[in-house]
Amino acid sequence: MAEIVIVPDDQVAGELAAEAILRRLIDEPEPVLGLATGSTPTSTYHAMVRRAAGQDWLKNLKAFALDEYVGLPDGHPESYAEVLRREFIEPMGLVPAQVMLPPGGLDGLSTAAAQYEAAIADAGGIDVQILGIGTDGHIGFNEPGSSLASRTRVKTLAESTRRDNARFFSSLDEVPVHCITQGLGTVLDSRHLILLAFGAHKADAIAAAVEGPVSASLPASVVQLHPHVTVLVDEPAAAKFKHGDYYRFAYANKFEWQRL
Ligand code: GLP
Repeated sequence: MAEIVIVPDDQVAGELAAEAILRRLIDEPEPVLGLATGSTPTSTYHAMVRRAAGQDWLKNLKAFALDEYVGLPDGHPESYAEVLRREFIEPMGLVPAQVMLPPGGLDGLSTAAAQYEAAIADAGGIDVQILGIGTDGHIGFNEPGSSLASRTRVKTLAESTRRDNARFFSSLDEVPVHCITQGLGTVLDSRHLILLAFGAHKADAIAAAVEGPVSASLPASVVQLHPHVTVLVDEPAAAKFKHGDYYRFAYANKFEWQRL
């Protein structure tokens, strides 16, 4: 079972996630981090910056993003490349070449996904993958119906995801139709998954992901197949859990050596 930790708010979750991520990566000779975008990981990135920005070991860090829109012009402020540059790469003191994203340009798109998979494999795989969850249960941009064994590929966004993400653009029409995303099988290859969900609008999706049937209809449910998953949720996002009392009890009774 995933370890499910219910915390008061996203700030506490961000501190816990940052501590676990840094502890895991700092001792790796070639640490590899998987980055998510969206609003959910922001508190984790801020906490990582506060704790570790500019530290020497970061020179060895490589990072891979989960996904990117297809077809946005280079430098578009809402491209995930730009979001990660602003929110993580620069504040952390990394150089851009340390962070790879699936390329969302139209040139070479048909071969980009396989190259991205090869780059992750060449780096030795991902040590810790940060994940958010969409209201329809997607992770990365793996929309409902995605194969549980899928690899990085070009996908079409669901209308609900385009509507959710329209808040970052000036109109719904500007939200791209296509994306390139690590697959669910790619995500499962990461050695530790940290799945974050905040707010009442995520309660149904996160409950279905960790307590519902494993199903391509709810892509995040694939995390139930992974041996090392940490799920950090705030109180509103925890509202629909059937076993919330048990998760709180288990977390309150952990041994010291069972830290996240
Ligand atoms: C986006 C991203 C996902 C993200 C999710 C939730 O579409 N592709 O990686 O986890 O939707 O977004 P947010 O964190 O803004 O709620």
